[in-house]
Amino acid sequence: MKKITVSILGFGQRGLVYAEAIKMNLSEVQLVKVCEVKKEKHPIIKQMFSLQDTDVFSEEDVFFKQKWSDILVISTMDKDHYRQVMKALDLGYDILLEKPIALVKEEILHIQRHAHALGRKIAVAHVLRYTMFYQKLKELIDQNAIGEIATLQQTENVGYFHYVHSYVRGNWHDSDKSSPMILAKSCHDLDIIRYLMGKNVKKLSSFGNLFHFKKENMPKGAATHCKDCTVDCPFNAIDFYKKNPRWMKIFTLEENVDKVFENEDLDYGKCVYQMDNNVVDHQVVNLEFEHGATASFVMTGFSNENHRSLTIHGTKGEINADMDDYFITVKPYGKEIYQIDLRTYTHDFSHHGGGDYRLFMDFIRAVRDHTSFITDINDSVESHVLALEAEVSRLKEGKVIDIQLTSCM
Ligand SMILES: NC(=O)c1ccc[n+]([C@@H]2O[C@H](COP(=O)([O-])OP(=O)(O)OC[C@H]3O[C@@H](n4cnc5c(N)ncnc54)[C@H](O)[C@@H]3O)[C@@H](O)[C@H]2O)c1
Repeated sequence: MKKITVSILGFGQRGLVYAEAIKMNLSEVQLVKVCEVKKEKHPIIKQMFSLQDTDVFSEEDVFFKQKWSDILVISTMDKDHYRQVMKALDLGYDILLEKPIALVKEEILHIQRHAHALGRKIAVAHVLRYTMFYQKLKELIDQNAIGEIATLQQTENVGYFHYVHSYVRGNWHDSDKSSPMILAKSCHDLDIIRYLMGKNVKKLSSFGNLFHFKKENMPKGAATHCKDCTVDCPFNAIDFYKKNPRWMKIFTLEENVDKVFENEDLDYGKCVYQMDNNVVDHQVVNLEFEHGATASFVMTGFSNENHRSLTIHGTKGEINADMDDYFITVKPYGKEIYQIDLRTYTHDFSHHGGGDYRLFMDFIRAVRDHTSFITDINDSVESHVLALEAEVSRLKEGKVIDIQLTSCM
């Protein structure tokens, strides 16, 4: 069996997940090069994979001088994807690309056209499609367990701590520097809703705003940095990172929380009411599909939970499912209610419900065996168009938008 070679561009949180997937499948795949701008990460990368100095780059331009492997994983930040994916396509890579594909429709469609013209494969990291949770839901729908779907509601609970970490203090707090919330986070939801429904969206509208995390809601007496603050606040960074050291690993290798937050320049230690964040903390999107079915989606940063839940209403029954659960409940009308226990099919619910590793290995095998995979760019473009149009609608006070699928295929 041919071993597929992989390089990783951007060895952050996501790059590490794919590196771990490689480590678990060394008989099929090999990591050959890494490009990561933060040089302090290089020793640990080299040690993890027994790489030589010449295998780890810190400059993108040097890395892109030639093609190093069969596949390139692009797991840098959103705004870099377009530039890097175009360079990688020209070098002849098949690509595993983190979402979002790019930030504007023209660039997204350009990538799709260019990959098609060159005959290259691009998998978009819509990991939800690979979770046992959504695979079983899709199977139930395709087996007609609840008839035809008339309407579907999905909620994305972005736990309050996850929300402030990523969208008030972290990488995605400023949509001008990264991307709007509906694209950055919820393109996954729009993708999976569309996937479950199996039809194209005809119209959508959206509302949402930054409701809470702004200066006028700052409690009296709050300090600029949590380390100096005496206010009783659920968003205190020191309390959170002490209880959840795993989240601190996302931005530092240092383990001593007090030491980390001595650095007052670090956004992760600042008051959530005094940041320059501008992304929404809640948003709703209503969708009408070409055959008349509807769906509604809610993203909320106000939740104790940190997972998705949904209800699907069919012509012959209903499904209730919560991604935090191992069970999917099917309620056929007039018949006995039953449950699917996901543990019957897998025990791997880590990293996006098991989706990360399954997606990675499916793409590796698709490239090796010249087979298809379910997160091809051609199947992923629509979710991005929907997200961008939802943002247009939101900014136009909920204007109804007709969806034109201007894909080149
Ligand atoms: N599929 C998912 O479910 C999912 C989940 C989280 C994040 N993401 C996406 O993955 C991407 C990365 O997110 P993350 O959380 O890993 O971010 P991160 O900040 O942890 O990692 C990005 C890494 O890229 C490095 N980098 C930046 N510019 C570079 C360059 N020019 N060359 C080489 N390295 C460079 C950074 O130093 C950093 O280590 C984002 O686009 C994000 O939207 C996807």
